[in-house]
Amino acid sequence: MATIAKTIVATGATSGLGFELVRQLLAQTQPYNFILGARDTKTAQANFDGLEYDNSKHSLTIFPLELSNLKTVKTFSQQVLDKLGQDKIDYLLLSAAISNNSEQPGPHGSKWSEPYIVNHLSQHYLVHLLREKLEASRSRIVVVSSGAVCYVKDPTLLEDDLKGGSKTDRNVYSATKFVQLLGAHWWRRQLQGKCHVVAASPGLVPNTNLLRSSEHYSMLVNHPDAKTVPEGAQSIYRAFIRDDFPEDPDQIYLSSLGEWWSKDLYGLTLDKDLQDKWSPSKEEIEKEEGLTA
Ligand SMILES: NC(=O)c1ccc[n+]([C@@H]2O[C@H](COP(=O)([O-])OP(=O)(O)OC[C@H]3O[C@@H](n4cnc5c(N)ncnc54)[C@H](OP(=O)(O)O)[C@@H]3O)[C@@H](O)[C@H]2O)c1
Repeated sequence: MATIAKTIVATGATSGLGFELVRQLLAQTQPYNFILGARDTKTAQANFDGLEYDNSKHSLTIFPLELSNLKTVKTFSQQVLDKLGQDKIDYLLLSAAISNNSEQPGPHGSKWSEPYIVNHLSQHYLVHLLREKLEASRSRIVVVSSGAVCYVKDPTLLEDDLKGGSKTDRNVYSATKFVQLLGAHWWRRQLQGKCHVVAASPGLVPNTNLLRSSEHYSMLVNHPDAKTVPEGAQSIYRAFIRDDFPEDPDQIYLSSLGEWWSKDLYGLTLDKDLQDKWSPSKEEIEKEEGLTA
């Protein structure tokens, strides 16, 4: 009997760890239907065509998605839903991120910086837009997190660090990954009993575009904990297949070593008021970002 294909909707699968994960899955005997968002659809298509996967088994659809522009998130979500029809989403992978600072004014007149919008707000908005389908599908949502969440020591400073035109000298990438994890906890609460939400850390993987452009690249590449891109992708893949969920529902974080991280390591993100604050509703996002008609 033919194996039923699994559908994966993903952001950030056009390069780095996300691309590598799709590459690994395309080599499996399990068939997959991928629906991917890409800011450069032509290049993404050419890169996937170069993998020469078995397209009688797997399907791969790429739709435009520029996460710094929430209008494209709305269009993308509609294209995803039209493409799916009655089919379900087995997995939603949220892997896109950038490591810019917040110095520039917010894109498209937003008060928020580009890294905040790309790394958190847009992908949080995407979950809102797909919510009904995700619930009906009992999907698993895999949020690619980072150990950098631990660098945030004072959440009262987040707003200053994440607004557009911020002059902060604190690490903005860590702040974006912290609020992204707040959002993952928030969705875990909203979707309880319907969807599993897993935050996965790939570990330190210097050879992606995220860190290659870092001024500390040479130091990172020689770091004793540095992992290869295939190893990092495997850490994310574990979040797709593990079903030994801890009894404590707050324990959603799968480390790069495949351990359910102890809650003490991300204790500050367990504050429900903070989760609520950084997880605006669909309507609030549309109003604040000027998306209402
Ligand atoms: N590398 C590490 O050591 C490390 C460690 C911990 C966590 N992570 C996390 O792992 C995830 C993947 O990162 P990576 O290291 O693989 O980085 P990467 O190579 O830079 O890949 C980032 C992905 O996000 C996409 N993206 C960036 N900005 C976008 C935008 N405005 N609109 C749409 N897509 C956009 C990129 O698209 P393009 O192909 O168009 O560039 C690419 O697909 C991120 O969530 C990151 O925070 C990485």
